[in-house]
Amino acid sequence: MSVDRDEFVVAASETGDGAPYPQEGRNRMLMPQPIAVVGTGSANPEKGLLQRMDPNHVFMMGDNPRLPRMPAAPKLLDFFRLRFSDIAFRHLLQSAKTALDAGQDEKVIVACLLHDISNGALLRSDHGYWSAQLVAPYVSEEVAWAVQHHQALRYFADEAAGFKYPDAYNAFFGPDYEPPEYIQKAHRDARNHRWYMTSRLITIYDIYAFNENWNVDPEQFTDIIGRHFKEPKEGLGFDGSPVAHMWRTMIWPHNFL
Ligand SMILES: [Fe+2]
Ligand SMILES: [Fe+2]
Repeated sequence: MSVDRDEFVVAASETGDGAPYPQEGRNRMLMPQPIAVVGTGSANPEKGLLQRMDPNHVFMMGDNPRLPRMPAAPKLLDFFRLRFSDIAFRHLLQSAKTALDAGQDEKVIVACLLHDISNGALLRSDHGYWSAQLVAPYVSEEVAWAVQHHQALRYFADEAAGFKYPDAYNAFFGPDYEPPEYIQKAHRDARNHRWYMTSRLITIYDIYAFNENWNVDPEQFTDIIGRHFKEPKEGLGFDGSPVAHMWRTMIWPHNFL
């Protein structure tokens, strides 16, 4: 059946994988996250969607038929496979694989695998901080620290360690970009920290190849993840941790409230 796809309305006729979905028989409206539209100049659909509310148009709560369904107790790699953008998926796996092939310690490999995790399906802005927060309850303090600080260290060369300012950053931000004071301070603090090199190594394996022909199988990291990432038995999002809501937001990114 052909479906008239509206960006913001999942039609009652969109049946996803065929198993039952919540709010069945009704059109489910998707309200974009405020942070995704503020300042963009694109029309915020909020008013229009509120006006469309009727018994056949409700706001989405729960599984979205347009997204792959997550297992009841999702694990780290489920988010990689079922939620992350292609670019984030490849980038994290390629970084971890490069560290693995270089013979790095497992803590560095895991830090590389997780370093941009918030860009996968949550938020880009201040991604080192968000990524560290997402994983902090499940990894060592050192890995979370390294993930947080890689954001700042990426802006500062350390030629002795083998890291130069990324060409990509000149292209991304313009050659005259100066990071703000809080990033400069985070870099200064990190330089004198005992875990500096763990974070610095993330920046070294933070490759921007985005090589579409290099497919890294996530399964090869299963054992390393098992040793360095404490998967909660209830699943990520359901363990009552201080960050469980962040994982749930990736499972159900369109919940109205
Ligand atoms: Fe990053
Ligand atoms: Fe990265």
